[in-house]
Amino acid sequence: MAADFVISGLKATIEGKEILKGIDLQMKGGEIHAIMGPNGTGKSTLASALMGHPKYEVTEGAATLNGEDLLEMAVDERARAGLFLAMQYPSEISGVTNSDFLRSAINARREEGSEISLIKFIRQMEGKMKELEMNPEFMHRYLNEGFSGGEKKRNEILQMMMLDPKIVILDEIDSGLDIDALKIVAQGVNAMRSEERGFLVITHYQRLLNYIKPDFVHVMMQGRIVKSGGPELAERLEAEGYEWVKEELGIEDETVGQEA
Ligand SMILES: Nc1ncnc2c1ncn2[C@@H]1O[C@H](COP(=O)(O)OP(=O)(O)O)[C@@H](O)[C@H]1O
Ligand SMILES: [Mg+2]
Repeated sequence: MAADFVISGLKATIEGKEILKGIDLQMKGGEIHAIMGPNGTGKSTLASALMGHPKYEVTEGAATLNGEDLLEMAVDERARAGLFLAMQYPSEISGVTNSDFLRSAINARREEGSEISLIKFIRQMEGKMKELEMNPEFMHRYLNEGFSGGEKKRNEILQMMMLDPKIVILDEIDSGLDIDALKIVAQGVNAMRSEERGFLVITHYQRLLNYIKPDFVHVMMQGRIVKSGGPELAERLEAEGYEWVKEELGIEDETVGQEA
């Protein structure tokens, strides 16, 4: 079934402080939505709240995937329902190899008795790593331990490719990537585009969107989506920055401010 992802009136707090102040977004399979915005406007909070990070408390609103209530689900259930988040700052896990981690993640989404065979898994992982121009040794390295920023980002994309999710959220996947790595990562993402899958691409900079072409662009400020448009909106932000949006909307401080 093609993904149908609906976020409505989503509010979330961290340690009692409200960061998300009512997010509405509808996304269908085949679509790429970009969320752009300066630092501190709540972009990563949105990603984490959707994924179910325990630090973030959703206080109002809804998020559904194909009619199923995501907010009722535990993190692993959300993943099994088809949600995937490539994190802005991926965690390092010592003692767990990259391949062990990925195989467990794949098998956690399968019924008991239908686990992926080791041979098939290794073959797939090797193939995807080749596409991403990753050194094969990364298969047996501890998860993200000692990886450079760019290697972590490629590894997130590798996970996405292997897990075959319905809704992909990429949080600043471009940060820490040089232009060649950015192109490889974008190729990986574009190869995964399909009518069955939706992408939410969070980025500070327009540059990424030259390689991953969005259908819709949303600007986030003060914990809300304050402006939406097509790809031309990203181009204007690239040319003119975010100041004009603030002026147009009478926003002085775009961050999730100190106000009560
Ligand atoms: N773990 C946290 N603990 C406390 N405050 C946080 C935490 N994460 C985010 N915030 C607050 O939420 C605001 C928005 O952060 P974030 O969602 O990371 O923004 P963005 O990704 O747009 O840069 C930050 O300015 C900060 O005040
Ligand atoms: Mg962020």
